[in-house]
Amino acid sequence: AVERTLSIIKPDATERNITGKVNQRLEDAGLRIVAQKRLKLTEEQAKAFYIVHKDRKFYQDLVNFMTSGPVVVQVLEGDNAIAKNREVMGATNPEEAAPGTIRADFARDIEANSVHGSDSPETAAGEIKFFFSDIEVVG
Ligand code: CMP
Repeated sequence: AVERTLSIIKPDATERNITGKVNQRLEDAGLRIVAQKRLKLTEEQAKAFYIVHKDRKFYQDLVNFMTSGPVVVQVLEGDNAIAKNREVMGATNPEEAAPGTIRADFARDIEANSVHGSDSPETAAGEIKFFFSDIEVVG
């Protein structure tokens, strides 16, 4: 089925000027970028976005990292987009990511891992709403 998922190109990737390279990987996998904007998250926004992780020991570090520079937030659309995007990203920890995936090729470590992608249809819907209004997403 055609799905939409929320993708974030993280500060370690914007800092290295590889947002185009990341987008090329996504498009080559058949994902369509149907919304995209660059912004700098506030502390409050990063905390809210990652609220499910609030009790994890890496939460504050993650918030600090995600507010350390610009991010590019985007909505990807395509057949089976949520799983497909997770496949193209590779495992959260770049040391465990399959060869040829975005994280294997670009990520620095488990925190500065270059990209985020929604993990289920429910989280995708919530995460897309977090950043985009309906008229900003053009399929
Ligand atoms: P992301 O998909 O954005 O979701 C939560 C993020 O927390 C994750 O990618 C990692 O960048 C970051 N993170 C930092 N440490 C850990 C950890 N030990 N386990 C999982 N995620 C971590």
